[in-house]
Amino acid sequence: MKELLDRNNIPQHIAIIMDGNGRWAQKKGAMRIFGHRNALTAVRESIEIAVEIGVKYLTLYAFSTENWARPQDEVNALMDILINSITDEVPTMMTNNIRLSSIGDIQSLPVSAQAKLQEAKELTSHNTGLTVFLALSYSGRWEIENALKKIVKKVVEGQINIEQINQQLIADHLDTKGVPDPELLIRTSGELRISNFLLWQLAYTELYFTEILWPDFRKEHLLEAVLDYQRRERRFGKTTAQIKSKP
Ligand code: IPE
Ligand code: IPE
Ligand code: MG
Repeated sequence: MKELLDRNNIPQHIAIIMDGNGRWAQKKGAMRIFGHRNALTAVRESIEIAVEIGVKYLTLYAFSTENWARPQDEVNALMDILINSITDEVPTMMTNNIRLSSIGDIQSLPVSAQAKLQEAKELTSHNTGLTVFLALSYSGRWEIENALKKIVKKVVEGQINIEQINQQLIADHLDTKGVPDPELLIRTSGELRISNFLLWQLAYTELYFTEILWPDFRKEHLLEAVLDYQRRERRFGKTTAQIKSKP
């Protein structure tokens, strides 16, 4: 399937809402946590294929601000899985020149998770291939609220004036500062919603929904999403005729 790809039209940034772990486990008559434990293969395959086709940024929604409201047992299990998988994946990231980063309210994570994440970020910080952003304790509204606080503080302290507030300045105060908006968003498990992910950044993103539950997601599913993306016309408010008559 890879040979069908248009190499000149690979999204630079793909974002994924990794959903359906609980239902995957329940279909097998297992506890929800079993689904989270089986999510790692899908993460690995997504990272591998992203590297293979030359994606620059991959943002993975792993834990939302709202997910803190889940049963405490499930939250604890998710944090454990997070710590273990980060530790396990660092050597592969080093071999493949992958940089790990994160977006979200990292300080709200358990101290042990923060430490592992920090360590992995530092170790991989000089890698220049794919950057993987883990969205942890993240939500779009949290991020915008946070950006607003930072900007207002600068205004109050006289570092900037109100007239300097524009879209670029707002983007520069988000956690994704300096990263191009995703061209493609994938959500698994058949849910047709954004669930508070990257609200600002998704303004013109192509959305792709699949029924596949996250633990079953494989390289070919990501390729299918990219092929679907490549068949679309991105108009950004213009007309087809304008798009077709490139100067
Ligand atoms: C996604 O799977 C993982 C997280 C949100 C942490 P879910 O746990 O939401 O699985 P479903 O949607 O209940 O099947
Ligand atoms: C979105 O999934 C968050 C993550 C994948 C981390 P949820 O399962 O939490 O979303 P809702 O609650 O069904 O919208
Ligand atoms: Mg879900």
